[in-house]
Amino acid sequence: MTRRKIVAGNWKMNMDAQTAVSLAQSIDERSADFGAEVVLFPPFVLIDKVKETLGVGPVKTGAQNCSEHESGAYTGEVSAGMLASLGVEYVLIGHSERREYFKETDEQLQAKLSLALKHGLKPVFCCGEPLAVRQQNSQQEYVQRQLEDSLFFVSNEQMLHCIIAYEPIWAIGTGLNATPEQVQEMHAHIRLLISNRYPGSLAQQVPLLYGGSCKPDNAKSLFDCPDVDGGLIGGASLKASDFLQIIDVV
Ligand code: PGA
Repeated sequence: MTRRKIVAGNWKMNMDAQTAVSLAQSIDERSADFGAEVVLFPPFVLIDKVKETLGVGPVKTGAQNCSEHESGAYTGEVSAGMLASLGVEYVLIGHSERREYFKETDEQLQAKLSLALKHGLKPVFCCGEPLAVRQQNSQQEYVQRQLEDSLFFVSNEQMLHCIIAYEPIWAIGTGLNATPEQVQEMHAHIRLLISNRYPGSLAQQVPLLYGGSCKPDNAKSLFDCPDVDGGLIGGASLKASDFLQIIDVV
């Protein structure tokens, strides 16, 4: 079965109004050659400018987070409905930086997922173990718990709109990527977990992305793994030439 390939750029809290437009322009100029779905995840305030730059081209936009509330007195928050009204199509849910620095809980992730799906956004659910867990060789149990506690409550129909990004925390921003063997082993495990909970045909359709120090020089070996359907790219998505090279090998 051929699954759709996705390369996503998580800009985190980087760029400004000018640099965001110029980066989006450089990506958009090459978009006719892309063999994968390319999604840019700028900070909230830059989404509209990036969308305007991308116009009606094939490159999509996503948000790095959304509120667990529908609307109301939550100063500083941004709702899934607001994102959808801007034409945003994707949203990251449960990135490890949000879990760690903003103490996002399983209950909050569930609420965010529900609202994202309700408003027609495609959630990119992030999971992955810290170094200590990898050193104990308990990474499969750890990721299983993350999926069961926060994602596997969604219906079959909703699961079809979800994407999962496996991002081992020890590989994020460290320059130390997981090996293709480690990544394939975990992705196959995640697909098995999906098939234990959902129909097997559905498990075959959910795109599984790898994230964590994915760069032009290691992207091909990671993307060649049979259960890897693309990447969630942080640092290397901030430089057009690096990001374009990664897109080229997916
Ligand atoms: P990195 O980040 O590519 O800079 O390691 C990936 C991510 O956090 O999504």
